[in-house]
Amino acid sequence: MDHIWYREWLFTIPSCEIPKAGDYVVYTVGVYSVVIVRGDDGKVRAFHNSCRHRGSVLCKTKKGTNPKLVCPYHQWTYELDGPLIWARDMEADFDVTKHGLKAVHCRNISGLIYICLAGEAPDIEPFVATSARYLAPHDLENSKVAFESTIVEEGNWKLVWENNRECYHCAGNHPALCRTFPEDPHAVGNSRDGVLASTQNAHVARCEAVGAPGARVEGPHGEWCFVRTPLLRAAESYTMDGKVAVTKPNSTLPFKDAGSLLKYSYPASWNHFLSDCSIVFRLTPISPTETELTTKWLVHKDAVEGRDYDLTRLTEVWVATNAEDREVVENNQRGIRTPAYEPGRYSDIHEGGVIQFVNWYASVLSGAIAASNQAAAE
Ligand code: FES
Ligand SMILES: [Fe+2]
Repeated sequence: MDHIWYREWLFTIPSCEIPKAGDYVVYTVGVYSVVIVRGDDGKVRAFHNSCRHRGSVLCKTKKGTNPKLVCPYHQWTYELDGPLIWARDMEADFDVTKHGLKAVHCRNISGLIYICLAGEAPDIEPFVATSARYLAPHDLENSKVAFESTIVEEGNWKLVWENNRECYHCAGNHPALCRTFPEDPHAVGNSRDGVLASTQNAHVARCEAVGAPGARVEGPHGEWCFVRTPLLRAAESYTMDGKVAVTKPNSTLPFKDAGSLLKYSYPASWNHFLSDCSIVFRLTPISPTETELTTKWLVHKDAVEGRDYDLTRLTEVWVATNAEDREVVENNQRGIRTPAYEPGRYSDIHEGGVIQFVNWYASVLSGAIAASNQAAAE
């Protein structure tokens, strides 16, 4: 937690989840509780959810709306952008300006709110710039959460990632997803040789011709990636029949079979952006053997359920896929408990993404441990 989750940028919520001034969401990771709130100026900020008086949580509920942030204990009252503005019966020498809420690094990245708990946050500008280009056709600010689901998988968060980064398991476990999603690692940029399928290259060229970047691009430390990949048989969305789930799209893509813009950013999120909707996934470690997975389906803010989309059609493929992934991750966790477990060999063909994740994890962790050892020695 110290070396990765309290240090790296973490995806928390789509900004459209808190559209109005005063809307807030509480995000919890490890020992930290963070209030993410939209200010009167429209800007989204993040603060530690701890009152500057005697430390009570400020926001008790997971989400809500308040014109000010009022502590439930003694009603110290804060502006939405952090300053303390009211504290009853304090002495004349009490300096309100020294008791504003403690800010957490927070960026609205093309409609996705990221925070960082570190004192000094890692450089996120390359990710911000790439997100701006790749997400430009996807109007996340003018979207809404049509549905969300949260499940807790009884597995370590790294097992959840390892499973996510390969589709070796798809044919045997994901009958609904396999109707539309290609298991071929060359189609999604997950092969170790880095070779992309000709269908992928043709798809990228078609999308780029209409101003939708798609070529596979990776962060400077392998910590994030974007690639726009075609779905099978020109499917339009992750539905059982392959047709769009939403007739009022939240993208400006001029054709429906634009595939899926796959994005991941370690350690907290992977996403799929389609022509008609977007699906954002957030994972949070709960304990060494429990991981929370929250999935949100985003549609155009003016799309009306029952008219522009059917909730079951929109969500059934990934609700099923998440449940199937939970099952394989939990089996994996149970299986590696035995002292007899010894790691086997990865398939270079199918598990290049797993190898990439493990390399990222090992390099971040070893770098952080070396840095903290050096700091301790100085
Ligand atoms: S702890 Fe918040 S007002 Fe006292
Ligand atoms: Fe899966």
